[in-house]
Amino acid sequence: MEYTFDKLKQIKQSLEKDKTLSASEIKKKYLNKDGVLSEAFKEIASVEKDNKAEFGTQINSLKKEILDILEEKKQEMVNYSTTERIDPTAPFDVNCSKDFLHVLDNKGTKHPIEQEIEKLTDIFKAMGFAVMESKQLDDDYHMFESLNFPKGHPARDMYDTFWTTDNYVLPAHTSTMQNRALKEFSIPIAVVLPGRCFRNEATDAGHEHTFHQIEGVYVDEGISLGNMEAVIKSFLETYLETKLEVRVQPSYFPFTEPDCEFIISCPFCHKEGCSICGHSGWIEIMGCGMIHPNVLREAGIDSTKYSGFAWGFGVDRLTMIKRGITDIRYIRNADLNFLTQF
Ligand code: DAH
Repeated sequence: MEYTFDKLKQIKQSLEKDKTLSASEIKKKYLNKDGVLSEAFKEIASVEKDNKAEFGTQINSLKKEILDILEEKKQEMVNYSTTERIDPTAPFDVNCSKDFLHVLDNKGTKHPIEQEIEKLTDIFKAMGFAVMESKQLDDDYHMFESLNFPKGHPARDMYDTFWTTDNYVLPAHTSTMQNRALKEFSIPIAVVLPGRCFRNEATDAGHEHTFHQIEGVYVDEGISLGNMEAVIKSFLETYLETKLEVRVQPSYFPFTEPDCEFIISCPFCHKEGCSICGHSGWIEIMGCGMIHPNVLREAGIDSTKYSGFAWGFGVDRLTMIKRGITDIRYIRNADLNFLTQF
C-alpha cells in the first residue's frame, strides 16, 4: 500500500517539473488512457479499504492540479493572441523612447510624401487637371527618344540614369510620361503625372537617389508662355498659401522650346533673405517650357495647330520648402522621430 501512496508523491514531483511542457504534452503524459495518472487511478481497486478515501482525495487533487495547469495554459494562449500580437517585421527601434510605443498600436499612417502628393494633386484637380501615375520601370523610348533626345545626344548625360541588364531604365524624371499622356488624352489636354524617380548620384542634404516629381502637361490651340506662368503661379500660391512674385528664366531641356526655370520670391522672407532661399530672396522651383514641336509630333499631335506647356517639379523639394525640412535624406530614413511629426 505504501507503494501506491509513494507513487502519487512521485507523480506530484514530476508534475512540478513538467509544468513548462506544452498542454498537449502534459495531457499525453498524464491524462491519456495509458497516462501516468490514468494508470494510478487503476490502482484504486488494490488500495486497502481504510486508505481508499485518502487515496481518492489525493489522486483527485492531483487530477485537479493538472486540469488547472491546462486551463492556465489555455488562458495564456487567448491573452497572447488577443493583446500581445505584434508585427515582428515592423520598423521599430526597441531602444526608442516610450513615447513611440503607441505606434505599435496604430495601423500606421500615410508617408509624408504620399500625403503631400495627395494635397498637390487635389489642387490640380480643382484646376481641372486629370491625374495619371507614372511608371517605375521604363524604356529608352519614353526616357529619351520620345522627348527629343536622339541616340548618342550629349543631353542624355544630364540624367544619371540607372539601367537594368536587359535595357530597362528607372525613370530619372516624370517626363517619361509625356508621350503617353499626349497619346492617351484628347485635346484640350490637362494632366498631372506624379511618380517616383531615380538618379544614380551621390546623396547629400539636397540630393537623393530616389525622389518624387509631378509632371504637368497642358495642350490646346493658342497656348502661350503666359498661360504657363499663370497656371504654375496660381498652383504655387495655393500650395504655399501666400502671394508670390515669379520669374521665368532661360534653361535647357531638349523637350521644350523655349526651355525655362520657374523662380519664386521666397515665401518665408519675402525677398529679405533667409536660410531657406540661401539669402538670395528667390527660389528656383521647377523646370518648365513650351512643349517642343518634335515631342508633340512624336505623339501624333499637329504642332502647327496646337501648342502646350509642361513642367516637372520635385515633390520632396517643395515639401522641404513648405515644411522647413533641412535634409532630403530624412524623408526616406524611416525614422519615427521624423515620421511621427506628420
Ligand atoms: N524633367 C525635367 C527634370 O527633371 C524637368 C522638366 C523640365 C519637366 C521642363 C518638364 C519640362 O516637363 O517642360 O530635370
